Amino acid sequence: MAESVLCKKKLEGKVVIVTGGASGIGETTAHLFASHGARMVVIADIQDELAQSVVESIGLNLASYIHCDVTDEEQVKAMVEWTVQNYGKLDIMFSNAGIFSRSNQTILDLDFSAFDHLFATNVRGMAACVKHAANAMVKGHVRGSIVCTASVAASCGDKKHIDYFMSKHAVLGLVRSASQQLGEHGIRVNCVSPYVVATPMACHALGMDAEQVGKLYEDRLVFKGVVLKAKHVADAVLFLASDDSECVTGHNLVVDGGVLAK
Ligand SMILES: NC(=O)c1ccc[n+]([C@@H]2O[C@H](COP(=O)([O-])OP(=O)(O)OC[C@H]3O[C@@H](n4cnc5c(N)ncnc54)[C@H](O)[C@@H]3O)[C@@H](O)[C@H]2O)c1
Repeated sequence: MAESVLCKKKLEGKVVIVTGGASGIGETTAHLFASHGARMVVIADIQDELAQSVVESIGLNLASYIHCDVTDEEQVKAMVEWTVQNYGKLDIMFSNAGIFSRSNQTILDLDFSAFDHLFATNVRGMAACVKHAANAMVKGHVRGSIVCTASVAASCGDKKHIDYFMSKHAVLGLVRSASQQLGEHGIRVNCVSPYVVATPMACHALGMDAEQVGKLYEDRLVFKGVVLKAKHVADAVLFLASDDSECVTGHNLVVDGGVLAK
């Protein structure tokens, strides 16, 4: 195959938003989107300094930052409108911002203030991003792609963290339903479901450094000889965001080294 085909840029000219782009999976995906020719990568996050440093490392001509707390629908609406006003359209929304359980959270001791806080980000925030991105795409007659970050926690239960597992099941419901409702507008909606990746969120939750997390979970993968990294997830997001997945919608792309198939 010709080298030019192998090196094809998949997002040439696209305007994309990455929520939670200041860190972890979002940060890695923002870099990958820019390297694939995206015209502008808008990072939406609440960690201002960190996000600004990500923008600078991508390049001020290719990326920009807007403070946006996804739990506040007005901020999400304003962030999407700002993107369209400044860059003319919205082609891709990577709705990725999320948080983990504050404590063990079993059904017997479920703390509903922590539950509400987590749902405000992982479910309400995710739905607000899909809603306002889809409206901008419909209004702009853009055949867009929306990708959400779910988790393997969307497809199984666990002995702890019931609020997180419930929230990720809700993301799957959001993606499946929204894909049915937006298909007639030419908008695709999919999600990625990573297993444990050693991001700041996972390291903090497990009380380990990135190397320890990588080692611990490498052993749990069915597929051997690889440590699951944010880059693997970003590659899956790129596939779903780009025309490579032109006829894929309502899909949950699991990136877990075979764990869920056991
Ligand atoms: N790391 C994993 O093992 C793993 C596995 C499966 C799914 N996920 C999911 O991946 C996504 C990204 O997580 P990560 O591991 O990269 O974590 P991370 O903490 O490195 O990144 C999450 C980003 O989201 C931002 N964020 C949090 N709340 C926000 C809000 N209210 N508004 C805007 N931004 C907000 C944070 O500031 C941060 O930059 C999350 O949805 C998480 O649930 C992570």
